[in-house]
Amino acid sequence: MKYVIGIDVGTSSLSGILVNERGEVLTSASESYRIITIKSGYNEQDPVDWYNAFCKVAKELISYAPDISRNIEGISFAGQMHSLVRLDDEGNAIGNAILWNDTRTKQECERITKEIDVIKITKNKAVEGFTLPKILWLQEHDFESWKKTKTILLPKDYMVYRLTGNKVMDKSDASGTLIYDFKHECWSEEILNHFDLDLGIMPKIVNSTDFVGHMDALLCRKLGLLTIPKVFAGAGDNSAAALGAGIFKKGDALLSIGTSGVILAFEDDIDVDYKGELHYFHHSIERSYYSMGVTLSAGHSLSWFKNNFAKSISFTDLMNEISEVPIGSSGLLFTPYLNGERTPHTDATIRGSFIGVSAEHNLKTFTRAVVEGITFSLKESYDIMFENGIELERIVSTGGGARSVEWLQIQADILGVEIKTLQSAEGPTMGAAMIAALGLRWFESAKECGKSFISYGESYVPSPSNHKKYNELYKIYKQIYSNTKDINMQLKEYRK
Ligand code: XUL
Repeated sequence: MKYVIGIDVGTSSLSGILVNERGEVLTSASESYRIITIKSGYNEQDPVDWYNAFCKVAKELISYAPDISRNIEGISFAGQMHSLVRLDDEGNAIGNAILWNDTRTKQECERITKEIDVIKITKNKAVEGFTLPKILWLQEHDFESWKKTKTILLPKDYMVYRLTGNKVMDKSDASGTLIYDFKHECWSEEILNHFDLDLGIMPKIVNSTDFVGHMDALLCRKLGLLTIPKVFAGAGDNSAAALGAGIFKKGDALLSIGTSGVILAFEDDIDVDYKGELHYFHHSIERSYYSMGVTLSAGHSLSWFKNNFAKSISFTDLMNEISEVPIGSSGLLFTPYLNGERTPHTDATIRGSFIGVSAEHNLKTFTRAVVEGITFSLKESYDIMFENGIELERIVSTGGGARSVEWLQIQADILGVEIKTLQSAEGPTMGAAMIAALGLRWFESAKECGKSFISYGESYVPSPSNHKKYNELYKIYKQIYSNTKDINMQLKEYRK
C-alpha cells in the first residue's frame, strides 16, 4: 500500500493525517504551539515552533505501522493564509512571523488604498490581516530588521523550504498577499515598484499540485523514513479545506464555522469583479477560483457567550435546547461583531448588539439568537455572491457549526440551500493529502480523487416556511449595522 501525508500549519496547532491510496485516513496527530502577543492586536509565532511541531507530528504518523516508513510517496501542506515569514541571506527566519489575525496595520491599509488601485490588480482590498500591509509596517517601524529580508514566505511555504530548500508559493496563497497580479498570475511589478520592494525577495509562483522538491535526506532519516517522499507545493487553508470538502464546481460552497466563519463559493471566471467586497482567491485546482466572505467572530461569539453566561452547561445541552425556542428567538436579534467585522462591512470599530431584549427572554432565547446572528452575518456575504450570479446548489458545512443538528438546520433555513456534512472532520489536512495524491498522479482530476478521499454525511434541506420567516427577519437584521455604526464610534473611547 502507498501513502501520503497531509499537514495543516494552523494558528493554534499543526495537524497531520496519514492517508492511503484508497483515501482511507489511517491516523492523525497534532501538536499545539504558542501565539506570541506582546501588545493587544499583535499576534506572532515563531516559525521554528511550526518546524518542531512538524517533526513530532510526522514521526507519530510514520510510526503508525511497520510498512509506513518505506511507502510514503508524497507530502503536502495547507496553512494559515497571509501570515508573513521572512528569511535572511542564510535562510534563517528573521524574528517572528506576523500572523493573519494581527491588526496593527490599519494605517498601512489606508496608505495602500490611497496610493494604488490594489483592487484592480489583486481583486482584493487592503485589510489588516493580509501580507503587504505587514511588510509596510516593518519598513516603517523596524527598518533595521526589514533590511535583512532576502525572501518572504507564508507559513506552509516556510515548511516546504525547510523540507526541500526551495522557495515557492502556490497561487492560492499568493493571491492573499496583496502583491499578486491576479489576471497575469505573477507578482505585480506595479505594486512592488510602488512600495520599493525587490522582485528578488518574492518566491517562485507555482501551482498547488506542482512537485517542488524531494524531502531532505537527513530529515527523512531523523523522522524514521526509509524512502524520500516528494513534496508538493500545497495551498492556503481555506482553499485546501474546500478541496477536501469537494468544492469542485460552480454552485458548490463551503461554510466553515470555527473561531471565525467562512463562506466560500467555487468560481470559474478569472475576470469576476467583486470590487473588493469579498475576497477573491485562486483555488488549489488549476484555472479555478473562489470568492469568500469572513465573519471574524463566528464560533467565537458562541464560545464567548457560553464561557461568560453558561459556563456550567455543556455545549451539547446548550445547543439541544435551542430547538425549544421559535424561529427569530422571540424577537431577539444578535450581531456577532465582538472584534469588529471583515466582510461585508470591513469595520474594526463596530461591536456586537443584542436588539429587542425583553423580560420573557432567557438563556435558551439568547443562545438561539447568537446562533441565528452568526448565520445571518454569513448570509450577508452570500448575498454579495448571489448578486454576482452565484446561485448555490449545496453547501458543505464543516467545523464547530457542523457539530449541532439544530444549527445545521438553521443554516439550511437561513441560507435557503441544502447543507451537507462530511463524515470525517479533517478539514485542510484532507485537502493537503489530496494535493499530494494529485501531484503523484494517483488520480486524473480532483473530482476523481474526491470519489475516493471524501465521504459525505447527513443532509439538511431548507423548510420553505422557515426560510420565508428568516427572510423577513433578515431584512430587520441587516438594518442593525448601519443603525449601530455611529453609536459604536462614540463608544470607542470607553473601550479598554
Ligand atoms: C482568510 C483568513 C483566515 C486564515 C486562517 O482570509 O485570514 O481564514 O487563513 O488560517
